[in-house]
Amino acid sequence: NKAVTIPSLRALHAAGEKIAMLTCYDASFASLMERSGVEILLIGDSLGMVCNGHTSTLPVTVQEVAYHTAAVARGAKSAMIMADLPFGSYGTPEQALASCVQLMQAGAHIVKIEGAGWLADTVRFLSERGVPVCAHIGLTPQFVHQLGGYKVQGKTIESAEALKADALKLQEAGAALVLLEAVPSTVGKDVTAALAIPTIGIGAGPDCSGQVLVMHDLLGVFPGRKARFVKNFMEGQASIEAAFAAYVAAVKDGSFPALEHCF
Ligand code: KIV
Ligand code: NA
Repeated sequence: NKAVTIPSLRALHAAGEKIAMLTCYDASFASLMERSGVEILLIGDSLGMVCNGHTSTLPVTVQEVAYHTAAVARGAKSAMIMADLPFGSYGTPEQALASCVQLMQAGAHIVKIEGAGWLADTVRFLSERGVPVCAHIGLTPQFVHQLGGYKVQGKTIESAEALKADALKLQEAGAALVLLEAVPSTVGKDVTAALAIPTIGIGAGPDCSGQVLVMHDLLGVFPGRKARFVKNFMEGQASIEAAFAAYVAAVKDGSFPALEHCF
């Protein structure tokens, strides 16, 4: 496989091909996902929940994300490695850069940060210093205590317009990608159409430029509550590798997400 880079993702996007992304936390799964055609491996702070059993992502540290990032980077040869900046690790642009240095020295090619328009200064600061950024907007799980739960965002006309304005501001600040979580499909479609950079959706409808799922959800092994946007791709498959391949195929041909996975 050829290395997945920001220019190669832009080329996929320009050609109208969907981008397949999955969360990944170790070397063995990284190798398997890559062989199945997954373009981006995300070391999500979801690792606090799916690997460590916490009830939110808030306890996760930069050191923990860096440990899993190094493992994933050793297992992958061509996929893009994206690492999450965990809660409390990007309070200022300078602190964000120090956190990114740890993650990129562990093997990340790009970082993902949760926020909204206020994040633009940090995104600009990082991109100008060689750190590509994916801006995560919509439902941002690190804000669970402010949001009052894991709730769909952008349901009103005003909040949908605010999300689009935030996405444009983050693109203007240099974001390489925008991740949209748990927003109505109409918002996913509208924001994707407004941006030049690719969008990655999770619970954001079929019109995003790509899709992401948490690996444990895809395999049906996470014991917690199953979100509407989750699909168990192990059903009907004989191996984990086949489930990853089925996910990639469904993202590429647009059959995932289906209506039942959308808001
Ligand atoms: O941490 C994570 O797994 C994520 C994805 C759900 C996008 O941020
Ligand atoms: Na995350």
